Amino acid sequence: MKKSLVIIGAGGHGKVCSEIARLNGYQTILFLDDNPSKKDIVSGTTADIERYLPDCDFFVALGNNELRKKYLQLLERANGNIVTLIHPQSIISDDFSVGEGSVIMAGVVINPGVRIGKGAIINTSTSLDHDNVIGDYVHIGVGTHLAGTVHIGEETFVGAGVTVINNISVCEDCIVGAGAVVIRDIKEKGTYVGVPVRKIK
Ligand SMILES: CC(C)(COP(=O)(O)OP(=O)(O)OC[C@H]1O[C@@H](n2cnc3c(N)ncnc32)[C@H](O)[C@@H]1OP(=O)(O)O)[C@@H](O)C(=O)NCCC(=O)NCCS
Repeated sequence: MKKSLVIIGAGGHGKVCSEIARLNGYQTILFLDDNPSKKDIVSGTTADIERYLPDCDFFVALGNNELRKKYLQLLERANGNIVTLIHPQSIISDDFSVGEGSVIMAGVVINPGVRIGKGAIINTSTSLDHDNVIGDYVHIGVGTHLAGTVHIGEETFVGAGVTVINNISVCEDCIVGAGAVVIRDIKEKGTYVGVPVRKIK
C-alpha cells in the first residue's frame, strides 16, 4: 500500500469511498474528475492519471458500471496499482474472495463461499448470503439482499432495496430497479422492475 490514493470520481460515491480509504489507512487522498463543476475540489482530470502512476494507488469511484470498467481497464493497461476498499464495519466470512478495484461498504454482511469479481460495488447495508457469485463491474445497490447461491452477471446493476431469492441467476448487462423482488432467473439483458420483476426495456 502506498501512502497516497488517487480516487477517480469526486461525486457522492467518491466521498463515501474516500472515507473508507481513510479508515483503511490512507493519509493523503486526491480526486481526479472530468466534470468542470468539480474543478475546485479535485487535483486534476483523468488526463492527469499518468502523473500519479509512480507514487499513488488508485481507486475508481464511478457508480456507472460501464465508466468504472473503462477507467479500471485503462489503469490496468498502464500498470496502475488498483486497490480494493473494505469498510471495517462490514461483517465478512473468511471464506470469501474479492477482485481488485471493488468496494465493500459499511454494514455489508457477506456469508461463506461468496466470490466477488473486480470493480464491483457492494453498497451500504447489503447482504450477500452463502455462495453468491458477483461478476466483474457489478453494482449491488444500498440495502439489497441476495439469498444463497445467487449469481449476478458482469456489469449488471441491482438497484436499492432489491430482494433476490435463493438459487437465482441474473445475466450480464441488466438493470434491476429499486425495490424489485426477483423470484425467477433473468436470462435476457434488459431493465426489470416490480414485485415480482417484469421486463420493461
Ligand atoms: C428501473 C430504473 C432504472 C428505470 O429507470 P428509467 O429507465 O428511467 O425508467 P422510467 O423512470 O422511464 O420508468 C419506466 C416505467 O417503469 C416504472 N418504474 C421505474 N422504476 C421502477 C421501480 N424501481 N419499480 C417499479 N416500477 C418502476 C415507472 O413508473 C414507469 O412506469 P410507466 O411506464 O407505467 O409510467 C429506475 O427507476 C430505478 O429503479 N433505478 C434504481 C436506482 C437506484 O436504486 N439507485 C440507488 C443505487 S445505490
